[in-house]
Formats: sequence, structure tokens, C-alpha cells
Amino acid sequence: MNIKYPEELNFLNSGKQPIEKSDVSIQGKVVVITGATSGVGLQTAYECASHGAHLILVARSESKANKVAKSCNELGASKIDIVIADLSLLTQVRRCAQEIEKLTPSIDVLIHSAGMHSTKRILTSEGLEIVFALNHCASFLLTVLLIPQLKHSQQSQVLFINSEGHRFNGLNLNDLDWKKRLYTGLRSYGASKTAQLLSMLEINNRLMNTNIVVNAMHPGDVKTNIGQNNGWLYRLFSKLFIQPILKDPHQSGQAIYTLISKPEYAYTRNAFYHYTTLELVARHARDRKISPQVFQKTCELCDLDSSSIY
Ligand SMILES: NC(=O)c1ccc[n+]([C@@H]2O[C@H](COP(=O)([O-])OP(=O)(O)OC[C@H]3O[C@@H](n4cnc5c(N)ncnc54)[C@H](OP(=O)(O)O)[C@@H]3O)[C@@H](O)[C@H]2O)c1
Repeated sequence: MNIKYPEELNFLNSGKQPIEKSDVSIQGKVVVITGATSGVGLQTAYECASHGAHLILVARSESKANKVAKSCNELGASKIDIVIADLSLLTQVRRCAQEIEKLTPSIDVLIHSAGMHSTKRILTSEGLEIVFALNHCASFLLTVLLIPQLKHSQQSQVLFINSEGHRFNGLNLNDLDWKKRLYTGLRSYGASKTAQLLSMLEINNRLMNTNIVVNAMHPGDVKTNIGQNNGWLYRLFSKLFIQPILKDPHQSGQAIYTLISKPEYAYTRNAFYHYTTLELVARHARDRKISPQVFQKTCELCDLDSSSIY
């Protein structure tokens, strides 16, 4: 039963809605998936493989990627390529894009599932706060670098695996690396997901006259490896109190597959889905006064010329 909540809390109803399924074939379509070695990305890879996709798996661990590729092959993928990259480093994101360019002239679907949650403030060797670098900058940069391949497809989709965690906000453009504020894992996670949603508005603006659509989704509250990089206390708390109430990530894979395969989702821009239910994001994540600044700042961090993105 749906409870009548104020607008900002309406997302509490979304998880109760039925998940739409799809049996549409994507035989031979080129689908790039980051974070395909675990959880949401892994289940998505399985769904795409069993519907005949040509998969390009982006992973940081070669052995894990090989294992996933073997399973995807058995499930019926038409072709599988692997690109190895630590996506928290933007130099590696650039190399990853170059390798993908060599593998295919055309991309039909780009799914960004690589992500993390860190209870500790960690800076990468490139000086960015790691959660912001991985969850937001990497997905932004990879999308922009692959625009030529996405344009080559007849109709292409980019899907950010975002989160209801964007509601924690935490985004401060003057303190992206949390030097001036007390760092908390939830707020840093919220900052990265908020930045991704605000940037999505600007990317779509620039790609309005192209065949590329960009959308985002929450994959459900599901049992995966997210957060397992954190300390023992976090892991114990998660094991005792969080994991028992989490759902099966198989559902996330099914929902994502529906969003990328059913024609009715192929032309929408700037949507946010909770599984397959359309939802309004928090006010701060749809603020068009701030989105151009977030876009510009992200271009600077990624060493991109914002005027060349269209
Ligand atoms: N689980 C949930 O309830 C939930 C809810 C909302 C949103 N999400 C979002 O769903 C996405 C997937 O998360 P998940 O829950 O499936 O977590 P997960 O099981 O930990 O999967 C994360 C994936 O990202 C990869 N990854 C992590 N750091 C990386 C790096 N530096 N470079 C390249 N790849 C890296 C991991 O690779 P390894 O296998 O090598 O670790 C793994 O494949 C994330 O964006 C997360 O924010 C999850």
C-alpha cells in the first residue's frame, strides 16, 4: 500500500512498486559496463549476456573479469571484450576510453555501475577525494570521451547507476576534497551522486540534438560488496543490521535490463528510476542554477574543454 508522503519523501513508495521486466533481444548490440565484476554491474552483465549482447566489461581486476567473461560467454553473449582500469584514476579512465575506441566504432549502451562508499576520507594519487573521483568524475569523463562512439549508434543510451543516497547531498563545490569540513561517508557518497545527477542535466542539454540520451537510476537496496572496503566495525554493523534487510541484486540487473532494452525507455532524457519506477530526485539534485557550475567544475577536474562537448 502506498502511503501519501510529502514530495521529498515520496521515494519511500518507489521500492514497493513492481519491477518491469523485459524480454526484448539486444543481440549483437554493444554494451559497455563498468563495475561488472560484482553486485549490480555483475547482474546487469548476466542479463545482457543472456540476451545476446556484445559486452565490453571494464574492471580493475583481470582475474575477476575473466571469470565474469566466462559466465557471460556461457549465458550467450555474442562477443566479450575486457578492459582493465582503476577508474578512480582519471589517467586510467582516459586509457580505458582509448582501448574501447580500438575495440569498437560504435556503442549502443554505456552503463556506469562502478562505485564505492568510504567511511574514511582518502585522496587518490591524482589528489581527488576517491569517492567523488570514482562515482562521479570517472563516469563523467568516460561518457564524454566515448561520445563519438555513442553517436555512431543509431540510438544510444548512457545509464548512471546512481542512488537514493544522493539525498544525503554533501556537495560543496568549494570543498570537494573535504579539507574544510568534517568528512562523513554518507555525505561524501551523497555529494558524488548529486554531482552526477546535476551533470546529467548539462550533458543532456549539450547532447539534445544527438541520438544519445542520458538517464540515471537507483538499483534498489541490494546485497552486494559495496562498503566492504571499510573497517571491521562498519562491516560488522552492516552484516548484523543492514545486509539482512537488503534485497537480491538480481532484481537490479533485471530492472537495468528493462531500462536499456525496452523501446519505450530509449528516447527519455534526465529520468531517474527507482528500479523501473520513474521518480523525482531531491530538489538540490535538480537545481539548474547550480548544474552548470558542477558541469564546469567537473570539466576542469577532468581536464576537459567544456565548449567541445556536444
Ligand atoms: N548495493 C546497493 O544497495 C546500492 C544502492 C544504491 C546504489 N548503488 C550503486 O550501485 C553501483 C554498484 O554498486 P554495488 O552495490 O554493485 O557494489 P559492489 O558489489 O561493490 O560493486 C562495485 C563494482 O565497482 C567496481 N569498482 C570499485 N572500485 C573500482 C575502481 N577503482 N576501478 C574500477 N572498478 C571499481 C568493483 O570492482 P571489484 O569487483 O574489483 O571490487 C565492482 O565491480 C554503485 O554505483 C553504487 O553506488 C548500490
